Amino acid sequence: MQNVLNYLGANEPRFIRELSDYLRLPSVSAQSHHRKDMDAAARWLAEHCQSIGLNARLWPTDGNPVVLARTPRSESAFSRRRPHFLVYGHYDVQPAEPFDLWKSPPFEPRIENRSLFARGACDNKGQHFAHLKAVEGYLRTNTELPCDLTFVIEGEEEVGSKNLAAFLKKNRAELRCDAIVISDTGMPDLKHPALTYALRGISALEVTVRGPSRDLHSGIYGGTVDNPAMALCQLLARLRDKNGRVIIPGFYDEVIRLSAYEKKQLARIPFNAAAYRKFLGVPELFGERGFTPQEQRAARPTIEINGLTSGYQGEGSKTIIPAWASAKLTFRLVPNQHPGRTEKLVRQHLKRICPPTVRLEIQGGHGGEPYLISPTSPLAQAGLRALKAAFGYEPVLLREGGSIPIVTDFKKILGADALMLGLALPDDNPHSPNEKFSLEAFAKGMRMSALLWQELAVVGS
Ligand code: BES
Ligand code: MN
Repeated sequence: MQNVLNYLGANEPRFIRELSDYLRLPSVSAQSHHRKDMDAAARWLAEHCQSIGLNARLWPTDGNPVVLARTPRSESAFSRRRPHFLVYGHYDVQPAEPFDLWKSPPFEPRIENRSLFARGACDNKGQHFAHLKAVEGYLRTNTELPCDLTFVIEGEEEVGSKNLAAFLKKNRAELRCDAIVISDTGMPDLKHPALTYALRGISALEVTVRGPSRDLHSGIYGGTVDNPAMALCQLLARLRDKNGRVIIPGFYDEVIRLSAYEKKQLARIPFNAAAYRKFLGVPELFGERGFTPQEQRAARPTIEINGLTSGYQGEGSKTIIPAWASAKLTFRLVPNQHPGRTEKLVRQHLKRICPPTVRLEIQGGHGGEPYLISPTSPLAQAGLRALKAAFGYEPVLLREGGSIPIVTDFKKILGADALMLGLALPDDNPHSPNEKFSLEAFAKGMRMSALLWQELAVVGS
């Protein structure tokens, strides 16, 4: 085992160069002009997996290919069933816009203050790369892995993982496993490595209101017809009150409240409201009244407007009544809410309150269920031991506010729980300009992964 850790330490500079090559590929799944880059990234990754000794192949889907890479299986037919774990990650990244806010171009990786800056650095290329390098450590030092591993790295996580469930169903037999290991979440700081035992779910939709058949002169016609931009704002304003509560009837009906144990765990996480406020650049924090910021961002549901479009956006002024207005909305959901049920409530409510002066259109989007595992299971305990050994500090238990919709599919289709060991730091800026990945987190993450297989093999056998 020490061999593996030594190998990881000795080869770190090369690993960083390789990760930089990976980050140079602009695999933005949301933008169709990056289609070719998706294939290029998948191919690069599969070839890289092959080069470190894994059996890798590309699995085509109706969207972007899945990279499937397995550790060489032991030959002996008599060997007892070895534990088998999946490592899940995604090679697609969020759009990098707005480009002008990046200190250096998003797809030209750069190191500053022991951090690697690039779109996808922490979300998620750097994080699953740490697991790949740990396995390389085993394979290249001829150290026996105590379990079989299969990497499933998809290219559509950031757009809702539309094709992964079908892939899991088709390959159910080969993917049968004891658990899924995922590093695609965060930790409070390097002295507080974290196991994430819950994620929020998500329900996305787009609301459009249409008025006149074309943009109208706002002087000639204004006053006689409704203004779609105004109507939409008024509709949206009726979805959340000034105390941060969603005011859609039935929205909170299924929400499970935090237990006293969980509240205590959340309170253990270092948190400084003033520093947090400053870091985010807001004049004051805002959230559902009656809950701490940690509770608000991890264990309470929200509504967010992610995009709002209407009327003239160009230079100068243009006096029109826009023909339409639209908003992209997402709801973050907590156990036991359900994206389908939430969407239905939202649709009903909007229809009920929409004035007859505009036409309402609602387009459903992607959805994902919230996720929750027991933080005291043997699986979780194994993860906590690996974190502690690699980082040298007592880990914390986290509920995260973000979503990884596929974790519930893993559970439903493969019957396996997800062990989420995130390596992103709070200032890593996922989805924002100047995304980065701490090289310290990368190094410790590789060690954690190497140690994890030893811990998990004991649990799984
Ligand atoms: N890695 C994130 C999810 C995440 C981040 C979970 C931080 C917990 C903490 C993932 O890549 C992501 O961004 N997911 C999307 C899902 C959506 C597009 C369906 C999200 O949460 O917005
Ligand atoms: Mn993401």
